[in-house]
Amino acid sequence: MINRTFPATRLRRNRHDDATRRLVAENKLSVDDLIWPIFIREGTGAAEEVASMPGVFRTALDGLARHVEEAASLNIPALALFPATPREHKDAEGTEALNPDNLMCRAARILKKEYPHIALVGDVALDPYTDHGHDGVLRDGYVHNEDSVKILVAQAVNQAAAGIDIIAPSDMMDGRIGAIRAGLDESGFINTRIMSYAAKYASAFYGPFRDAIGSGGALKGDKKTYQMNPANAEEALAEVAMDIAEGADMVMVKPGMPYLDIVRLVKQRFEMPVFAYQVSGEYAMIVAAARNGWLDHDRAMMESLLGFKRAGCSGILTYFAVGAAKRLSA
Ligand code: PBG
Repeated sequence: MINRTFPATRLRRNRHDDATRRLVAENKLSVDDLIWPIFIREGTGAAEEVASMPGVFRTALDGLARHVEEAASLNIPALALFPATPREHKDAEGTEALNPDNLMCRAARILKKEYPHIALVGDVALDPYTDHGHDGVLRDGYVHNEDSVKILVAQAVNQAAAGIDIIAPSDMMDGRIGAIRAGLDESGFINTRIMSYAAKYASAFYGPFRDAIGSGGALKGDKKTYQMNPANAEEALAEVAMDIAEGADMVMVKPGMPYLDIVRLVKQRFEMPVFAYQVSGEYAMIVAAARNGWLDHDRAMMESLLGFKRAGCSGILTYFAVGAAKRLSA
């Protein structure tokens, strides 16, 4: 390190004016960094706003193409799809996840037809489909690893067949990335990418999401036997290393803002594209404070997203994607 001392060096000089600040900026957010998660519902008609996520909607399939129009015109590269499955289609084994005409697959077919250049990210986990709200299947009250993985492989192949480009397993079962890679390859989907939710923590910040897909009330207990303990960082590196060895093309850290240290550690350790998910509770915090007049919505949004880039993210899953893209193109 060069030894720079005051007053020959004044670090404030490079902050003197906007032009200079732009020249020396180390990181930059672009529309290419944004993945927009969207919620889809059965039925027809107007989109329903999610109470705990103002500005986020559950969209019926007849309004889906229109809902995505602005994101497409802003050139957002990818959408992540999440279904709000009607209660009558849920069961203990999450059978609906394997239905080739489930909500997710029908949405994927519509979107691929309307917007073939937008990449579709498919969440692979059983919680939108199980009546107990867990990401896998229960055996004697425990989420059974191997039995769950078998179903997740079939779910991933079902999604790929419907046109999902990027399979994103969020279930945190051991060994699922290798099993899903093999299952996709056997079915001929050799170019379907896997973005693994590699380091996913058992977090309070998922609360509003569970309202959005209607799994919250149903959830018995918690997800601590499969999602990670927020106290752990080394374990995240072990999770990421295994997912890479099993064939992940991209890895993700989730939640986002409270876990930027994990993003940085993963980025430094592995030559891999790293993503983070700015989850529902993070979105809700910023929007709620802004609605109270306590934060400037747009500035807080853009600052939070830039933080992900600074930490080392290739991209961010964020409910702010459309708002941020609008700001970036203004
Ligand atoms: C489900 C899943 C969750 C989220 C994405 N996929 C919730 C959970 O694990 O309970 C959370 C996303 C968010 O909070 O925005 N497997």
